[in-house]
Amino acid sequence: MKFFADTAEIADIKDLAATGLLDGVTTNPSLIAKSGRDFMEVTKEICDIVDGPVSAEVVALDHETMMKEAEVLRKIADNVCIKVPLTIDGLKTCKALTSDGTMVNVTLCFSATQALLAAKAGATFVSPFVGRHDDNGVDGMDLIRDIRLIYDNYAFATEILVASVRHVTHVLESARIGADVMTAPPAVIKNLVKHVLTDKGIEGFMADWAKTGQSIL
Ligand code: E4P
Repeated sequence: MKFFADTAEIADIKDLAATGLLDGVTTNPSLIAKSGRDFMEVTKEICDIVDGPVSAEVVALDHETMMKEAEVLRKIADNVCIKVPLTIDGLKTCKALTSDGTMVNVTLCFSATQALLAAKAGATFVSPFVGRHDDNGVDGMDLIRDIRLIYDNYAFATEILVASVRHVTHVLESARIGADVMTAPPAVIKNLVKHVLTDKGIEGFMADWAKTGQSIL
């Protein structure tokens, strides 16, 4: 499973990229606003740090303007992935851009039938939002199960990019289901490494090693 960071914070992206475990980045207008940075400038910086896809979202709601915005965004770098909303205009834009070889992430997916449309539009990625479903009393992971089943039924190449990930269990379930990608805030990605028994184990090994009086270097 690929790991994307869901952020526009350069320091966090550099930090995760240094581990060699980061496969891409997703941003959205809210994350750009939170960063306080210029959209074009920060997207370029992210694309320079990460080799994999960097999602940059259009803000127009009509197909024609989406296409014009996508034209500007895809010039930022070769690894820019144009993010479009799951609307008729977004799907139309997805079809046009992917036919041209551009990567497209269809976002704000909340149903399996929406995901089916995204695949038919040739989306590179579809982003189902699990956390926002959970917030509304629906198990977001059921959506991922449905999409996996449908995509496998028809061998769709669109990758399931689990979004709105809020905790480690979302990541675990995504991997169990066989989602292709998950995008999570840096704090969630860092939490994946944590285990109290790992910390306790290190503590014990260090204490015993000190008793030997030896050193490796
Ligand atoms: C995905 O691409 C979105 O940027 C993101 O995952 C949304 O997450 P949220 O529901 O926590 O805002």
